[in-house]
Amino acid sequence: MDSPGNTPWIRIRDAREHVGETVEVRGWLTHKRSSGKVQFLVVRDGSGLMQCVAGRQDVSDADWATGESLTQESSVILRGTLKTDPRSLGGVEMGLLGITLVGRAESYPITPKEHGVDYLMDHRHLWLRAPRQQAILRVRDEIIATFRDFMRQEGFLLIDAPIFTPSACEGTSTLFETQYFDDKAYLSQSGQLYMEAAAMALGRVYCLGPAFRAEKSKTRRHLIEFWMMEPEWAWATLDDVIALEERLLVATVERVLTRCGEDLKVVERDISRLEKVKAPFPRIHYSDAVKMLHDAGMPFEWGSDFGAPDETEISNRFDTPVFVKHYPAAVKAFYMEPDPADPRLCLSCDCLAPEGYGEIIGGGQRMSSLELLTQRIDEHGLPQAAFEWYKDLRRYGSVPHSGFGIGVERTLAWIAGLEHVRESIPFPRMLNRLSP
Ligand code: 4AD
Ligand code: MG
Repeated sequence: MDSPGNTPWIRIRDAREHVGETVEVRGWLTHKRSSGKVQFLVVRDGSGLMQCVAGRQDVSDADWATGESLTQESSVILRGTLKTDPRSLGGVEMGLLGITLVGRAESYPITPKEHGVDYLMDHRHLWLRAPRQQAILRVRDEIIATFRDFMRQEGFLLIDAPIFTPSACEGTSTLFETQYFDDKAYLSQSGQLYMEAAAMALGRVYCLGPAFRAEKSKTRRHLIEFWMMEPEWAWATLDDVIALEERLLVATVERVLTRCGEDLKVVERDISRLEKVKAPFPRIHYSDAVKMLHDAGMPFEWGSDFGAPDETEISNRFDTPVFVKHYPAAVKAFYMEPDPADPRLCLSCDCLAPEGYGEIIGGGQRMSSLELLTQRIDEHGLPQAAFEWYKDLRRYGSVPHSGFGIGVERTLAWIAGLEHVRESIPFPRMLNRLSP
């Protein structure tokens, strides 16, 4: 928009650099009060909040009336002179000279009173404007930015995986089927198989994108559509990728602590818990994890997969994330390399976040034998034809390789201390929710 009189438009976060200047701020009214002689308008622009003050003599009669009439969430352009005021939000206040109403807000459905979760989820498109939701989304942005910067620093190339796929990667029970002209297609559950192909071309690669799973479980950890980063590393062993995961998590927590201090305050995160996230993280064998459950008196059968209460019990023993290695092959996907020390197990590893957050990373070393791979595809009830291209990777210069997938929402839920993953993605898709 044009500025009346060419007043520079600034963002509130940069206000300190403009003290003494006459500037323009564009945003939405969060609240106001008026004494009849002075109006206090608090505006947010996505980068911060600012209190703007108008004395009756400072603005025109028309602008004064505009200010008096503003409703919560009305969009406005405010012009005025910035001055430092230690009592004010962010330490800078605007002395108003002009008030322009851009869009009048009708009676706003989200008020400072308590609303139920369903109501807030129905109004997710507006709920995003709440300070807590903004803070969470800023931390999400920082986590994704760290992931990308970190992988690049480690020499990994971003390779985008397709969303329409001809076959399952993570089991047929959670596939989303869709029409693809005269054919069937599935929404991607994981980009892993494509990253394995790309790793044979480029050595170290990763993808970062959405994954889709028709999860019938309604838990605080499951979304139907979630975001995942999946590195794949040619020549790497299971231990190599575990070390990479550890470096990634340390870098991510450190960067969020350094750059998102204000946001962590808004979400009331106990940062002393995050400050304890230092390498090395413990690495434990599946069988030791089972023993921990038995020692805690939990009825767990060796050979089965951990449920949420089991993961909570294991991870609660540590201040940092913990790696659990060598799961039974029967509870993992078809592509896991068998454990040479015990063929019932596989070279897989899950990373469990502390404070009851549970699995945030799943990964492992990929199967090398073409013969065994063919057998596993049959055992998992998958169509051989759809995997011929994947089997080619074993036919043409196969090398040991390993990788993992880290869920953005679960990582964010843990780092920001959220109760449920529904707040960790802008527009959650859940068992009973497809809108807004
Ligand atoms: O353990 P998962 O299923 O592993 C894979 O998809 C592998 N193909 C990854 C790889 O090796 N390239 O999923 C990996 C991570 C989980 O640890 C979790 O953080 C997240 O993805 N995730 C979910 N997040 C939210 N909702 C769901 N329904 C999720 N399913 C998995
Ligand atoms: Mg998993």
